[in-house]
Amino acid sequence: MDLVSIRKSYRRYARHYDATFGRVFATGRASARETLAPVSGKRILEVGVGTGISLPDYPDDCEVVGIDVSREMLEVARGRLNGGLPAVSGLCEMDAEQLGFADNSFDAVVAMYVATVVPNPDALFAEMWRVCRPGGRLLVVNHFASQQWLLRGVERCLRPLSKAVGFRPDMEYEDFVRVTGQEPCMVAPASLFGYWKQVEFRKPV
Ligand SMILES: C[S@@+](CC[C@H](N)C(=O)[O-])C[C@H]1O[C@@H](n2cnc3c(N)ncnc32)[C@H](O)[C@@H]1O
Repeated sequence: MDLVSIRKSYRRYARHYDATFGRVFATGRASARETLAPVSGKRILEVGVGTGISLPDYPDDCEVVGIDVSREMLEVARGRLNGGLPAVSGLCEMDAEQLGFADNSFDAVVAMYVATVVPNPDALFAEMWRVCRPGGRLLVVNHFASQQWLLRGVERCLRPLSKAVGFRPDMEYEDFVRVTGQEPCMVAPASLFGYWKQVEFRKPV
């Protein structure tokens, strides 16, 4: 997977994304919303914000910045702002693997359904960790490699097709642990049967 093919795919998806994936990913977004329970004054970075489908979930009194590498997905997200979303302070075209923010600048950093589609998840994790402040929270909602041996084997076999299917089927959340040196404080299902999970980390103070 590379940025050129990712941009090309999401250019195609942008107009139909919400109709196609809106419901599929709704449970995961709802669980992330409950976990984060964003409150007044909190500065939140949503990485891979896409069409901004989750933006209406943030209460008006927090400050949300969304970034995405796809201009067309962001255009849809910007369209939502016309409806009035006071929590959103910025939407930027940016590569999640090279975030243009200072160290320790957000209270929470969230990525939903993004980690398996970026070219280099280690760089994504390192950047999310860098911009999260000490004591801050990092939440990833994604599919991670199955713990069930048969499914795990199937996912391994599908790995060479990652580029064709547009996502990495066998990413481990332990990769995050390896990059940051932190164990998650929570791993919980984010969909029926736990195909998608939410994994939360806290950055030590
Ligand atoms: C499956 S969509 C998820 C969108 C949204 N988070 C949601 O919950 O529906 C993946 C998003 O990640 C974005 N993306 C992929 N690679 C990226 C990168 N390196 N930097 C920033 N965004 C990226 C894509 O453009 C796309 O909008």
